Amino acid sequence: MTLLVRWLTASELEWANSRYAEVDFLPSPASDLVAVAELNGTAAGLGRVTHIAPGIGELGGMYVFPEHRGVGASKSLIQFLISQSNLATLYCLPFEHLDGLYQAAGFKPCDPGPSVPGKVMEKHAWCNARYPDPVLLMCRAALPPVS
Ligand SMILES: CC(C)(COP(=O)(O)OP(=O)(O)OC[C@H]1O[C@@H](n2cnc3c(N)ncnc32)[C@H](O)[C@@H]1OP(=O)(O)O)[C@@H](O)C(=O)NCCC(=O)NCCS
Repeated sequence: MTLLVRWLTASELEWANSRYAEVDFLPSPASDLVAVAELNGTAAGLGRVTHIAPGIGELGGMYVFPEHRGVGASKSLIQFLISQSNLATLYCLPFEHLDGLYQAAGFKPCDPGPSVPGKVMEKHAWCNARYPDPVLLMCRAALPPVS
């Protein structure tokens, strides 16, 4: 099995958004950094980082197509987005039952408060109103440079 992750091309955005509609996820604007996981050359899932403010993003839109689940595609998408988005701070709004998946990638539960960007707080409230499953607020900060 070959699993690789790459950036979505501009011509694939409409396709990606039609896949997101299947799971009632918001469509991505062209400004999102969207990644595609491919299993043996076939598209298997999507993930994205939305730019929030300088150095800050929101990682989400994790959707592995049903026939490709359980082989690590979401873990690879998360690692790719963390390493390639080049943002020091990433927020994430995962469903509660996926806590362990995101903690394993370095995300920690985060208290809502004035240090959290308004856009992230608004999306968190929106998600909790929209989806039946509780949605967490998590954050991952870059490690300080080694001196
Ligand atoms: C959640 C989802 C992205 C997982 O994708 P996946 O490629 O099958 O996940 P992976 O194979 O990379 O598994 C990664 C880890 O997450 C865990 N995991 C996956 N689905 C899980 C679930 N429904 N509940 C709890 N843990 C789960 C796996 O057990 C695995 O843990 P391990 O490393 O300790 O074995 C996929 O089921 C999906 O697209 N669901 C519908 C959309 C959705 O809910 N997206 C998440 C939004 S926050």
